[in-house]
Amino acid sequence: MALFWKKKDESQEVAITLPEHIAFIMDGNGRWAKKRGLPRKFGHREGAKTFRKITQYCKDIGIRNVSFYAFSTENWKRPKDEVDAIIELFREYVVDVRNYIGKDVRVLFLGDKTIFDDDLQKKMNDLERDTGDRRGMTMLLAINYGGRDDIVHAARILAQKVKDGEINPEDITEDMFTPNLYTLDVPDVDLMIRPSGEQRTSNFLIWQSAYAELYFTNVLWPDFSSDDLDKAIEEFSNRSRRFGGV
Ligand code: IPE
Ligand code: IPE
Ligand code: MG
Repeated sequence: MALFWKKKDESQEVAITLPEHIAFIMDGNGRWAKKRGLPRKFGHREGAKTFRKITQYCKDIGIRNVSFYAFSTENWKRPKDEVDAIIELFREYVVDVRNYIGKDVRVLFLGDKTIFDDDLQKKMNDLERDTGDRRGMTMLLAINYGGRDDIVHAARILAQKVKDGEINPEDITEDMFTPNLYTLDVPDVDLMIRPSGEQRTSNFLIWQSAYAELYFTNVLWPDFSSDDLDKAIEEFSNRSRRFGGV
């Protein structure tokens, strides 16, 4: 997919290939707060604002699928007050998201929802149901998500089908796994962006990003701007993707 993008500092237009699916690892909130002498939860609050801005920007430039890693299956190891602050923030955002996504954004949650209380689960399920038919953009929010857990969850669904006599183990293919992952029909990740200086993917969408282009930047997530995203997309556009071919 290509679009013509006018660079801000030049008069001519350049052709840019837009990724079909961008995944963000929203990292660096804690360090952002620490630098300012603030408790870590202030970093999460600021990071949530960036999430709002970047979702809007992705929609404006025509990205079809955008995933955000908000809380991992491993993040439960953190101090209880930090975990509680993140879940409370998430609760606010599940309500807030309806106010700004507009009429053509589908919301999907990635991860096991059953860990949350009934009220929060209901809000998540309602949002998925009410936006399920929209096709402008899909916004995927990963909370209590782990890539390994995603694969185990899909394996259980397939194992149940074997148990029920619907399929044989030798019939299981990669294509049968894909729709049973939390990402359902959403295409694989093309571009995975991790701010904060860490160069790892920390269990995010490991199946779906098998051939993703990785982009790392030292910017902390609360400071991540639309200009930073422009840079990442421009670099993506210049990469040579071969998928094992020549
Ligand atoms: C990412 O920011 C948000 C979550 C993992 C919930 P961090 O809280 O990991 O920020 P740093 O890495 O400590 O700076
Ligand atoms: C990854 O960040 C998870 C999220 C951004 C939600 P972490 O801060 O948890 O990752 P590690 O521990 O540095 O790998
Ligand atoms: Mg971190």
